[in-house]
Amino acid sequence: MIIAIDGPAAAGKGTLSRRIAEEYGFHHLDTGLTYRATAKALLDAGLPLDDETVAETIARKVDLSGLDRAVLSKHEIGEAASKIAVMPAVRRALVDAQRAFSLREPGTVLDGRDIGTVVCPDAPVKIYVTASAEVRAKRRYDEIVNAGGSADYAAIFEDVKRRDERDMGRSDSPLRPAEDAYLLDTSEMSIEAAFQTAKSFIDAGLSRNA
Ligand code: DC
Repeated sequence: MIIAIDGPAAAGKGTLSRRIAEEYGFHHLDTGLTYRATAKALLDAGLPLDDETVAETIARKVDLSGLDRAVLSKHEIGEAASKIAVMPAVRRALVDAQRAFSLREPGTVLDGRDIGTVVCPDAPVKIYVTASAEVRAKRRYDEIVNAGGSADYAAIFEDVKRRDERDMGRSDSPLRPAEDAYLLDTSEMSIEAAFQTAKSFIDAGLSRNA
């Protein structure tokens, strides 16, 4: 049983996916962390971010059991990750590892940008989670401020839009909803309401596949 969750940056996919995995007792993989871990390994080793062969070699060595969200969530790592995520050889390497993960029993939740379209096109439940760029930027801003940091809303908003352009505009596996994905716009929804809606989609998918 595979649940595929896609959507743009800061749409709330991570929180939602973790909650779903907990609810159903499934394994969860945030596939963005695999791109981030590859980027971090390149940065740490002082290797270039624009050499596809080097980046692929590093991508093949990424250990999915050692992905540390706290370390990998840094802004600079996200920027570097979005640069190497355009490289087809890097994507192939990471997609191989993600597909192997998706087969774990009793089931998995994978979240990212291309899960329903490329990584697991046969997943019985696909959800495309989105929210307006303004709402996503505001959520990220609140997150930083509530954690005691200082943030600039206008800069975050520009960053969200730039990420969207990069994710949706790349030629290999651009971000888009799979044709058979449920659309979940969380702009006007609480986390709880988004979770309950997602659960209704999943339960419908599970009973169809039972
Ligand atoms: O969701 P995130 O910010 O952790 O993702 C980091 C980068 O990796 C982002 O630029 C999009 C890219 N990514 C991707 O291309 N495909 C995925 N399945 C997941 C993330």
